Amino acid sequence: MSEFSSKTEFASKEEKVHYIFSKIAKRYDLMNSLLSLWQHKLWRSATMRRMNVRSGQSAVDVCTGTGDWALSLATAAGPAGKVVGVDFCEPMLEEGIRKAAKAGMADRVEMLHGNAMALPFADSTFDYATIGFALRNVPDIEQVIREMKRVVKPGGLVVSLELSKPERPIFRSIYYFYFEKVLPKLGSLAAKDDVSYSWLPESLRGFPDRQGLANLFEHVGLVNVESKPLTFGIAAMHIGYKPKE
Ligand SMILES: C[S@@+](CC[C@H](N)C(=O)[O-])C[C@H]1O[C@@H](n2cnc3c(N)ncnc32)[C@H](O)[C@@H]1O
Repeated sequence: MSEFSSKTEFASKEEKVHYIFSKIAKRYDLMNSLLSLWQHKLWRSATMRRMNVRSGQSAVDVCTGTGDWALSLATAAGPAGKVVGVDFCEPMLEEGIRKAAKAGMADRVEMLHGNAMALPFADSTFDYATIGFALRNVPDIEQVIREMKRVVKPGGLVVSLELSKPERPIFRSIYYFYFEKVLPKLGSLAAKDDVSYSWLPESLRGFPDRQGLANLFEHVGLVNVESKPLTFGIAAMHIGYKPKE
C-alpha cells in the first residue's frame, strides 16, 4: 500500500492535483492514450504544426508532466534551441527525464521543478509558452495565463491544448455520458484508483468552454487570439500573441 493510497480529503485543489499526479505518474502516458483513444497524439501534432517552431527557437512547457510536449518542442527547435519543462510534481518530472534520456535528448530539454502560478523565469525569456491538458488543474487559470504571457518575448506565442466542452447538443450528450459515467470506471478499473479518474470530469465542470477560454486569453492582454475545436470540440487549441512593444 502506498503512502497515498487511502487519501480522499485535501486542503486545497493544488494539494489534490499534486497527490493525483504523484500517484498516477507511472501509468499516465498509457492511460492518456487509452482514455482518449489515442486522439491526444493527433491533437498534439496538429498544435505543433500550427505553431511552426523553427530551429534555434526557445520554449517553456508549463505543467509539462511526463514531457511529451517538451520533447516535441525540443525536436522542432533542434540542438540550437532551448526548451524547459516545468512541473510541480516530482514523479511526473522523473518520467519526463527518463523519456528524454531514452530519446537521447537529455541535454536538449531541461526538466525543472516549479509552480505554474509563479514561473521561475525573467520576463520575455521564450519564443513560446505552452500548456497541455493542465489549465483545468491549476488553482487560478487567469494567473497562469498571465505568467505565460509574462515569460514570452513580445510577439511570442502562448498556446494551450486542453479538453473542452463539445458544442453540438447530441454529440455532447453522448460524450458526457462516456466522460462522466464510463471513463472514471474504466480509469478506476485499469489504474485501481478512484480519486484520480473521477478528477477528470470534475476538473472539466468548472472550466470555461472554448469561447470562455479565448475571452480569458484576450482579458490578460494577448492579441490575435485563435481557438480551434478538435474532434468535435472534445479538446481545443488556443493561441494568443504577446503584443510587440
Ligand atoms: C494532465 S497532466 C498534463 C501533463 C502534460 N502537460 C501533458 O500534456 O501530458 C497535468 C500536469 O500539470 C501539473 N500541474 C498541475 N498544477 C500545477 C502547478 N500549479 N504547477 C506546476 N505543475 C502543475 C501536474 O503535476 C501534472 O503533471
